[in-house]
Amino acid sequence: MKHLIIAALIGLLAGPVLADGAGDADKGKKAFNKCKSCHAVTDADGNKIVKGGKTGPNLYGVAGRAIASADYKYGKSLSAVGETGAVWDLASFSAYVADPKGWLQETLDDTAAKSKMSFKLKKGAEDIYAFLESVGPAPAE
Ligand code: HEC
Repeated sequence: MKHLIIAALIGLLAGPVLADGAGDADKGKKAFNKCKSCHAVTDADGNKIVKGGKTGPNLYGVAGRAIASADYKYGKSLSAVGETGAVWDLASFSAYVADPKGWLQETLDDTAAKSKMSFKLKKGAEDIYAFLESVGPAPAE
């Protein structure tokens, strides 16, 4: 009995810890509605995974993709980050979508940095990242 209680307690404690940081792709799919006025998700064969606008770059495979590397006319600041060879990961993606201009200014250490993306996402970036990861190309071994 004692063991059962301890096991249940460990389960309760470990549950939220394990869930922390891991996004929910289903929730992210819905949340992507906030992005699709400006962003489509179109794979290399031209299949439209999410039909969207062309104001921003195609976000297919953006998880793990080199920053500012899609076929798109990026702003100067985001291009400058791309030139460092940096790749989008969960941390940079989440910080960027929460405040694109602020993230660029911090990353480039330049208070004059500008973003072509004005939209700011309040919460749920990890879910959107999980969704984009789930519909992106299989990760390279
Ligand atoms: C009002 C239009 C608009 C909305 C809404 C929008 N974006 Fe963007 N996004 C842009 C533009 C424009 C850029 C290019 C930024 C630049 O070049 O400075 C961009 C760039 C990006 C990039 C960089 C991609 C790359 O190729 O390096 C990511 C990641 C991104 N957006 C994610 C999102 C996500 C996720 C959402 C929804 C939560 C979203 N955006 C909503 C307009 C938008």
